[in-house]
Amino acid sequence: MTKVVEASLAELDRVAEEIRKSVPESAVLFLRGDLAAGKTTLARALARAKGYEEAVTSPTFSVQQIYGDGLYHYDLYQCPNEKFFAMGLLESFEEPGWHMVEWGDEELRKLLQGHGFFTAVVEISPNDGGRRYRIVTDA
Ligand SMILES: Nc1ncnc2c1ncn2[C@@H]1O[C@H](COP(=O)(O)OP(=O)(O)O)[C@@H](O)[C@H]1O
Ligand SMILES: [Mg+2]
Repeated sequence: MTKVVEASLAELDRVAEEIRKSVPESAVLFLRGDLAAGKTTLARALARAKGYEEAVTSPTFSVQQIYGDGLYHYDLYQCPNEKFFAMGLLESFEEPGWHMVEWGDEELRKLLQGHGFFTAVVEISPNDGGRRYRIVTDA
């Protein structure tokens, strides 16, 4: 399913709500877009939607950050999938909840789909001062 939402910074909770309606309780969310597109900002809004108000501050973590029960954040920038697998982090996707992944590629997504995970992709692009969010979900 595909859904497109346009939003300013102040309207991000609406984007999070659209995403919440489109994905199950356990899912891997690929947040995509160029540098400064707004991936981390969206992760923060999604965390808010899950009740983790102050969880996402700055991306100071290395690869994986756990905000609490059922909310995970990954930054795979310059982290090849082989390295990610070698760190043993693939299994962490099996934990119930939302797994928000920045810079995750199609190879990783296909692999997860092949293992029965529900995946969603949010493509973020600039739009007249705000952003355009293209949400594509499995099934
Ligand atoms: N919907 C939006 N409308 C306007 N500005 C936004 C929006 N989303 C994010 N931004 C701004 O874009 C900048 C980069 O955001 P960030 O989330 O750090 O990008 P990324 O993680 O993709 O590199 C920040 O200054 C942020 O406030
Ligand atoms: Mg970021």
